Amino acid sequence: MSYKISEKVKWVGKIDWELRNFHGYEYSTHKGTSYNSYLIRDEKTVLIDTVWRPFADEFVEELKKEIDLDEIDYIIMNHGEIDHSGALPELMKEIPGTPIYCTSSGVKSLKGHYHEDWNFKEVKTGDTLDIGENTLTFVEAKMLHWPDSMFTYMAGENIFFSNDAFGQHYASELMFNDLVDKAELDQQSIKYYANILTPFSPLVKRKINEILSMNLPINMICPSHGIIWRENLTQIVERYLKWSDNYQEDQITIVYDSMWHGTKRMAEAITEGIKTVNKEQNIKLYNSAKTDKNDILTEVFKSKLVLVGSPTINNGILFSIAGILEMLKGLKFKNKKAAAFGTYGWSGESVKIITDELKEAGLDVINEGIKQLWNPGEEEMNECKEFGKEIFQKL
Ligand code: FEO
Repeated sequence: MSYKISEKVKWVGKIDWELRNFHGYEYSTHKGTSYNSYLIRDEKTVLIDTVWRPFADEFVEELKKEIDLDEIDYIIMNHGEIDHSGALPELMKEIPGTPIYCTSSGVKSLKGHYHEDWNFKEVKTGDTLDIGENTLTFVEAKMLHWPDSMFTYMAGENIFFSNDAFGQHYASELMFNDLVDKAELDQQSIKYYANILTPFSPLVKRKINEILSMNLPINMICPSHGIIWRENLTQIVERYLKWSDNYQEDQITIVYDSMWHGTKRMAEAITEGIKTVNKEQNIKLYNSAKTDKNDILTEVFKSKLVLVGSPTINNGILFSIAGILEMLKGLKFKNKKAAAFGTYGWSGESVKIITDELKEAGLDVINEGIKQLWNPGEEEMNECKEFGKEIFQKL
């Protein structure tokens, strides 16, 4: 299956409707994904990126329907991760001498994955490739999101091949942003940013501003996952600039796990306390044992205050909360206030453990937290309400 993208560009990737987990179990893909590969036919023929390894044979067979593989003059690998380079070994069996353009780190990652000494051509920012009516310019995009990442700009048709940046894990045969469901697209875009790109937000901001300062005319942004941006491009660029700049909305997120509903009831009492100060405050509660972790982290990314609760178990905290906290540490969200809560029966370490982890994750802990012994009674529930009230007033 291929799709015409412009006069000279065709999409020749794979839409993976079935995928439900990406990067192992690290990212949930409720809406599937796509691995976008692009074929440019100018005076020279160029292939940008390939697809994930399980689809390698299918990719090469489909590509043969489009073109005699020997006609491919250049391959560009904007990024070496397996979801984009996985079909290279199959492809290179057919056209072994074809030059592969990538960054110097790209050579390292591709050699590291495939142990092949292909005809690599290292490129740096500003290097160009004349392909006929169009010219390709390479822009290194280190740590967006790997050291080897780069973008390719096609001057002439003015298409920006952004690889992982501006992507979404979102399967759709409609291909373009003006054709798909806007709410779905927005949700998948922010989830992708929150769960993949936030650790690199300062670099995202710098790189976008660098590209904006080049004043390149851009008609389309073609990422390596999800749909292509062709309508109102400034919208997604502006959203990226906002997300990369200490992002928060007027939202409070309470994440908890609970053994016998004590910590859950604390979460609800804290919510009630906040509501006594502001009835209209947007507060979302998630049991982390019952809710998708990446969806929770997307909500945390949108929040100004994050409250995390777990009872104490075996001198520690519950598994699902430990997982969320571990992911939070890696994602390095900025501009979030936080505090901990939880019940206990004997030793009662959970609130301190969570508080320490929140600090380690870079969140601004504004209260030493609240813990309640056994199943909270009326007095304890009132204390939780008071805690909610006080913490909200501290914002
Ligand atoms: Fe970093 Fe889509 O691979």
